[in-house]
Amino acid sequence: MSDPSDDLSSAPGYVRHARLRHWVSDVARLAKPDRIVWCDGSQAEYDRLCAELVTSGAFLRLNPKLRPNSFLARSDPGDVARMEDRTFICSAKQEDAGPTNNWIEPAQMRATLERLFDGCMRGRTMYVVPFSMGPIGSPIAQIGIEISDSAYVVVSMRIMTRMGRAVIEQLGADGDYVPGVHSVGAPLPPGQEDVRWPCNKDDKWIVHFPETREIWSFGSGYGGNALLGKKCLALRIASVMARDQGWLAEHMLILGVEAPDGQKTYISAGFPSACGKTNLAMVIPPGALKGWKVTTIGEDIAWLKPGADGRFRAINPEAGFFGVAPGTSVATNLNAMKMLHANTIFTNVALTPEGDVWWEGMTDTPPARLIDWQGKDWTPEEGKKSGRLAAHPNSRFTVPAAQCPSIDPAWEDPSGVPISAFLFGGRRAATIPLVVEAPSWEDGVYMAATLGSETTAAITGKVGVVRRDPMAMLAFCGYNMGDYFGHWLEMGRAVARPPRMFRVNWFRRGADGKFIWPGFGENMRVLKWAVERCQGKAGAVETPLGLMPRWEDLAWIGLEEFSREQFVELTRVDGAAWRDELASHDELFGKLGDHLPAALEQCRAALHAQLGA
Ligand code: OXD
Ligand code: MN
Repeated sequence: MSDPSDDLSSAPGYVRHARLRHWVSDVARLAKPDRIVWCDGSQAEYDRLCAELVTSGAFLRLNPKLRPNSFLARSDPGDVARMEDRTFICSAKQEDAGPTNNWIEPAQMRATLERLFDGCMRGRTMYVVPFSMGPIGSPIAQIGIEISDSAYVVVSMRIMTRMGRAVIEQLGADGDYVPGVHSVGAPLPPGQEDVRWPCNKDDKWIVHFPETREIWSFGSGYGGNALLGKKCLALRIASVMARDQGWLAEHMLILGVEAPDGQKTYISAGFPSACGKTNLAMVIPPGALKGWKVTTIGEDIAWLKPGADGRFRAINPEAGFFGVAPGTSVATNLNAMKMLHANTIFTNVALTPEGDVWWEGMTDTPPARLIDWQGKDWTPEEGKKSGRLAAHPNSRFTVPAAQCPSIDPAWEDPSGVPISAFLFGGRRAATIPLVVEAPSWEDGVYMAATLGSETTAAITGKVGVVRRDPMAMLAFCGYNMGDYFGHWLEMGRAVARPPRMFRVNWFRRGADGKFIWPGFGENMRVLKWAVERCQGKAGAVETPLGLMPRWEDLAWIGLEEFSREQFVELTRVDGAAWRDELASHDELFGKLGDHLPAALEQCRAALHAQLGA
């Protein structure tokens, strides 16, 4: 331990945690910032940092009459999404990271980080951001401390987490925390003016050490790369904690469904990025389904722990929503549009002449003139001609969860809500029917483990290719995927009443290339069936894939234009396509070697037999 006179941490008096002060000093010694600021999480601090970001040109204040206390940030065009190819799980043994994660030997990675971080904050402020994932003091919450040289990260973390002095007080003199160090990787030489969105164009690293539960992120200032509480802590590091401690940290929304008789059923649902989790979490049931109501607990991450009542209890560890803007409209997600009325940070959306925001899909007709996400003039005519979008496809809003009109009264209940069903879904143009219920927990784990989805703009790389994304956790599981499947199988035995498991697909297309299913609010019809299956009320038919609703098992009132023929097409099991599908399950399973649980092999063999494959 260093000499107290070595204390470079500039910690305020209320920081009693010696280990924390020393760690902050050590990082300061390495990164060499001009100054250190401990964030207290107050509104005054938030307002001051936002004003500074406006002055520096990083933020544009939106018209306060149209969008009070809201800002627009425009990122560097090379820093617009999570970078999975730059994300590393540096466990001591490569086998523990498994074949789906990038791995570099920890000592070698530490040497790289020492080099990268040496002097990387010169000319900048180093912020110390204490945050809690989950309500402060809750037995299921985890504390993290993010050190960052980005004020954009600080203000975003204040929305996305419970942040500030109260967290330090909760830590006391020796509480545990997950340390995360983040730098945009762009030291500022004396006298040089800063750019609007500093980042490192050549070098980006998002690094996790699962054994020591540390996070290091360099070079990017965007979303999950930089807001370390979200994907890095609440999923990658938490998934390792969950494996070790007997719970689940999942890429899942949590919603409540209230039936007309007042009975409430909570569902957790895993979908890959940009597959409509935010829309589903805030879904407004069609008016024809009288008396049905949906409430929102979370839209991206769920922590689920076996409860004393024999059920999984789920909390949303986040305090805000970092949602994809394009496609969000009063028609697709009225609750989201209402929640974005104020106090929101928008990133990479377009700006209207009135000083408000716009993105593709917000209205049918774009405004006649806009400034696009890169700050250039844009007109619908020019956009059509060049294919240039006004908003980046992965543009985002960052907004406090409490502003969501459908937020559930229990969303901050530290003991969580009881989960009755798990839904898993991907974006699949063919093969996968609207909804299938797994006959058993093992079959459900198999379904989730073989989830496939067409890639979207939420990650860098090619868009629209099917990839296996087990439990929607491909990019977020901090350990060997085969062991993760084993953990899921085990967790089904850890509760007396495991949730029912369903796989859904809102995105199947017909011969005309159009989506067959109307989606959005109409997805409520599938939620209703799932809820009624949990209550033992709804019928189903056995198919080679599992249990499916018959036409008469779903409610069609108010959707009379949807024909039986369309339903048949939507639920068709195409033998040849399924043979290919099963073969492609092998692409992932084949990589897992003896980490693949035998139970999943058996499920696959049974499916082969049922499909006559
Ligand atoms: C997200 C993602 O930002 O999954 O939630 O990419
Ligand atoms: Mn996500």
